[in-house]
Amino acid sequence: MSEQMDQVLAEALEAIQSAETPEALGDVRIRFLGKKGSIQALMSAMKDLPKEEKPAFGQQVNALKAEVSEKLEARRKELEAGALQEKMKQDALDITLPGEKLETGTIHPLILIQQELEDLFLGMGYTVAEGPEVEQDYYNFELANIPKDHPARDMQDTFYIDPNTLLRTHTTAMQMRELEKANGQLPIKLICPGKVYRRDDDDATHSHQFMQCEGLVVGEHITLADLKGTLEYMANTMFGAGRSVRFRPSYFPFTEPSVEVDVSCPFCNGKGCSVCKGSGWIEILGAGMVHPHVLEMNGFDPEKCSGFAFGVGLERVAMLKYGIDDIRNFYTNDLRFLKMFDRFD
Ligand code: PHE
Repeated sequence: MSEQMDQVLAEALEAIQSAETPEALGDVRIRFLGKKGSIQALMSAMKDLPKEEKPAFGQQVNALKAEVSEKLEARRKELEAGALQEKMKQDALDITLPGEKLETGTIHPLILIQQELEDLFLGMGYTVAEGPEVEQDYYNFELANIPKDHPARDMQDTFYIDPNTLLRTHTTAMQMRELEKANGQLPIKLICPGKVYRRDDDDATHSHQFMQCEGLVVGEHITLADLKGTLEYMANTMFGAGRSVRFRPSYFPFTEPSVEVDVSCPFCNGKGCSVCKGSGWIEILGAGMVHPHVLEMNGFDPEKCSGFAFGVGLERVAMLKYGIDDIRNFYTNDLRFLKMFDRFD
């Protein structure tokens, strides 16, 4: 009998050792310790033994059972530890691997200029106004002192959607909305940046879509000197310290007097170079005192208040500031061009 026990033990140890998974080990447990298992079979055989041999035999079977249980338990722990190791190996994070670089976009140069202007004017207590790009003739022209038969309409070739609806040709349309909204309340101090459209043929200096930022201040005793001081401050902030501005007489239907504004050339400090074509000055914007008729039409008394307005083209500023020689670069989405501006944002 004891030979048979040794054999069961040997078989059990062998099966335990060769079980590679917790499931296989479970089968081994059933095979040896289960109700129909080999050790139970030995127990059952005990009843056929002579009475005096039974106690010793019983002890041996119990010892065998204990040993097999112990070995099963040890192997179970071993397998679980192995499985854990394996899982850890699989989930391991190699912190020495280089990270994946996420491609991020860059801020468009025109938006950089817009943000710079917004910061500058917010700092002087202005607000930033927004308005529709699809505009009514009324705000784009009528309220800006450009009635239907006015020759100044030819100055701005317009994309019409229907006789009363158009793509705004200047941000002045937004000014008119703001003036109307203010309903005679003073003061008004705002800028309106945004896209505008004109029926121009695209070339190095023209684009049918471009951006403007317009400024408008209306209050008591606002003079041309306030406009000049404001624009001088803007020129110094945008193009570096030491800039001066000069006014040349001009014409816009919505301002009187109207001026064309030049900035002393930031490239040669006014001495004359290829950028300023030897003149020492660069034209950057149109401006003027808000026309009394415009104030009147919008519900303000021109005897009691006055205002100035200016409109600057953002492409022009960006081209000067970043040395860009073709306006089409802003609109053709060439990544090589756009990526150059990541160091400015
Ligand atoms: N609206 C004018 C333009 O688009 C610019 C301007 C704005 C001029 C405000 C004077 C005052 O050309």
